[in-house]
Formats: sequence, C-alpha cells, structure tokens
Amino acid sequence: MNKKDLRDYLELLKKEAPEEIEFVKRNVNPRFELSAVLAKLESQNRYPAVLFHQVGHSNIPVLSNLFATRRRLALALGCDERKLNEVYREREDHRIEPKLVKTGPIKEIVITGKDVDLTKLPIITHNEKDAGPYITAGAMVLRDPDTKKRNIGIYRHMLHGPKELGVHFAETSHSNLIFEKHIKINKPMEVAITLGMHPAFYLGVLSFVPFGVDEYTVVGGLMEEPLEIVKCETVDLEVPSIAEIVIEGIIDPQKRKEEGPYGEFTTLYGKPLMNPVIDVTAITMRKEPIYLDIFSGHLDHQLLGGTPRLSSIYKAIKVACPTVKDVFMPPSGCCRFTCYISIEKRHEGEAKNAICAAFASDPFIKYAVVVDSDIDIFSDSNVWKAIATRVNVDEDIFHIREAKGHPLDPTAKKGFLVSKVGIDATKPLLGYPETIHVPGSSEIELDSYITK
Ligand SMILES: Cc1cc2nc3c(=O)[nH]c(=O)nc-3n(C[C@H](O)[C@H](O)[C@H](O)COP(=O)(O)O)c2cc1C
Repeated sequence: MNKKDLRDYLELLKKEAPEEIEFVKRNVNPRFELSAVLAKLESQNRYPAVLFHQVGHSNIPVLSNLFATRRRLALALGCDERKLNEVYREREDHRIEPKLVKTGPIKEIVITGKDVDLTKLPIITHNEKDAGPYITAGAMVLRDPDTKKRNIGIYRHMLHGPKELGVHFAETSHSNLIFEKHIKINKPMEVAITLGMHPAFYLGVLSFVPFGVDEYTVVGGLMEEPLEIVKCETVDLEVPSIAEIVIEGIIDPQKRKEEGPYGEFTTLYGKPLMNPVIDVTAITMRKEPIYLDIFSGHLDHQLLGGTPRLSSIYKAIKVACPTVKDVFMPPSGCCRFTCYISIEKRHEGEAKNAICAAFASDPFIKYAVVVDSDIDIFSDSNVWKAIATRVNVDEDIFHIREAKGHPLDPTAKKGFLVSKVGIDATKPLLGYPETIHVPGSSEIELDSYITK
C-alpha cells in the first residue's frame, strides 16, 4: 500500500519541522472562527499548518493552511526549500502510471443514497462575503468522453445542500473543455472529489501538463511510486485508495445555480456566477477521517496554486534562454501576477526573450522581471534593489498593451485583456560598476568582538 498519505505527512511534519504545525483543541465555529484564527496568525506573519480538533458539531478534525509555506511543500517532496522548484521540474517529467488496487482505507465507510449528507462534514466558511461554506481542497477527477482519459484539478465547491455542491470551471481549464463536450452530447458528467491526501498529491494534480495527460501519472512522478487508486462506488472513476474523504457525484449538463461571491487568490471576491451543480451520489471515507481545508484567498491557496506553474514557466523560458536558473512568483503578486526570473546572462537582449517566453507561457503574469543570478529571486527587496540600480528606464522596461490575461485579474478589460510590463533588471555585460565588498567579513567571529 502507498505510504504517502496525509497522516504520514503530518507525522513527518511533527518530527522534522514541529514549528510548522499548531494544534487547536477548543471548539471553533466553521463559519469565520476557524479562518479568523488563521488570519490572526497571518497578521503576525505566522503561517503554520493548523489542526483544529473540534469544529462546530462535527466530530471530524479539520487541517488547514497546510500549503502556506514553501518549506512544507519542499518537505512533501523530501527536499530543501531552495531545491523545491528544481525537484518538482525533474519529477514532473518522470511520470508513473497509477496502480489500480481492489480496496483501501477510503472504503472503510461507504455512504450512498438517502444517507448522503454533506452537512455532516465540517465545511468551512472563510471570508465574510463568501456565499456559503466552500470545499476548497477537493481534487476532482473526471473523464473525457472521447478519449476516456482522466483529468484532475482543484475546483471550488460551494455547499448548496445536503446532497448538492456547486463547481466553478475557469474557461481555460481542461475540465471545462471536457464539460463542454458533455454539454454537446447532452450526457451527465461523472465526478469524484478527493479531500485529504499527502501534499505531493496536490502538487501533482495541479501540474500544467498538456490536455490529455492524466495528472495521476504526475502524482506518481512526484511521489516516486505509482499512486494506488480504487474504483468509485457510484461513478466510473478512480480515486486514491488512501485518501481521507471522497465525494462522488454527477453533473447534469443543463443544470445551473448561482454560486459565489468567493474569496479568490487575488485577495478579492470573485463575482457570483451561474455555475454547474454536482448531485452527490456517495461519500466514502476512512474510519476517523481528517477533513482538509485550504484557506481560500490567502497564502495557503496562493502558494499551492502558484508553485506548479513555476515549472511550466521555467521550461518555456529555458527554450528562449538556456541559462535560466530559476523562477519565482512572490506572494506580493498573489503568486500569479508577478514573475521573477533569474538568468546567467551571456548576451544583451536575452532577458527580453526570457520575458516574452514567460508572458507566452502563463497568461496570469503581468509583470516579468529578469535579474542576474547574484540576486535572490525569493526576496522582493533584493529584486527591487536590482530594479533600482540596474535598470535604465528608457531602455530596459517595455510594455505590451492588451495581451491575453486572466479574467480574475481585477484590471482585465473585456474579460481577458491585460497590459503587461517586462523589466530587464540585469547589469549590462560591459561597463557596469563593481559591487562593493568588505574583505574578511565571513571569517569574523562576532562574539570575540562584541561584549555586553
Ligand atoms: C485552492 C485552489 C482552488 C482552485 N479553484 C479553482 C476553481 O474553482 N476553478 C478552476 O477552474 N480552477 C481552480 N483552481 C486552479 C486549477 O485547479 C488548476 O488550474 C488546474 O491545473 C486545472 O486543471 P485542468 O486544466 O486540468 O482542469 C484552483 C487552484 C487551487 C490551488
């Protein structure tokens, strides 16, 4: 059996990085109180994962904020934080087919038919104007009716009722493409939502693989072993055998319900939309499951969604600029809108090619900044120092009017149109002043100089 489940990761966290997890034993209200605890921690610049033992009337504990630090994401891949992007890029390309097994812990409790009641789950309402409780950590699998291939991604699910969930497919998502096929043939679309798995699973299902690639194979690559999957109870789909909770259901291609507003990764509310509805046919779970939540609109949401994108952006830039070292989308740009690119510059002009590749690879990016490899792209202030001292504004900044952006960008016009700015903050290859240096500082033992 796969070892890499959510519990295995929590044990690892407690052992290897106990400062990365906190526990709340007192009862908290799933409506705002749980998220208020996380927001208070955030206001103190603290981003631990938090396990809430008692949430409202539910006897199911809730784990939230799990993805809010790069250190925890790196730990999920068994590497150092600085190596996270590199390890992700390598393993993403070594895809491993999932392995179908007969059963697993996810079948310990099987609820179908009239017994299905989503209100028994501790579904969280995070932000003041969210339209209701939202399942935010659901990895949904569905099948292309033409190719029969699986597609998996995370989509928000508003709780509409005991047997009914909403779903939002962004226009650009592969799942939307598959849903449109179901609309065309007027056939219901089967879905299954996995809630609660090892973080490597979540990083894998969010990979930007081409349409038609089964994200479970990327999960296998990231976990370095085949993902073990079991057949669902009421739909013709497969889910991880060691997940905490699975929700199965059917989407009627014609049915719509108002869904939203919802606190998005932009830290703004997304507008209400008429969105499809999932009629839930089964819930399966472990005997004492953990309910995984993602703190929507906050770092938990931003970092998880942003990290897999770094891989596809890097790979596109690598074609245009072979000396690219790494890329990062900082939280100051919601982990989507600003991209820092580190290169080992060899020719004048190649920074601009790298910027064009970044824009072409990810429509979210509206500011792309290229720096030399001596600048730390994980530090906003380091990058801004390069912008302040290495940029000739007339020559090194360019502007693209009204390119394709993303509708969730609040500045987008006519749905998608966003203007973009590229900044070449690399030093000219010739004639740039030398950086100051104080000799001997690394050898200094401060304790032998400074006394109280
Ligand atoms: C917490 C979280 C919530 C997300 N919610 C949605 C959503 O509601 N709708 C959507 O289309 N994408 C959402 N995404 C992004 C998709 O999961 C992501 O783009 C995924 O790669 C889409 O897969 P697909 O293109 O194979 O459908 C979310 C991502 C995260 C991390």
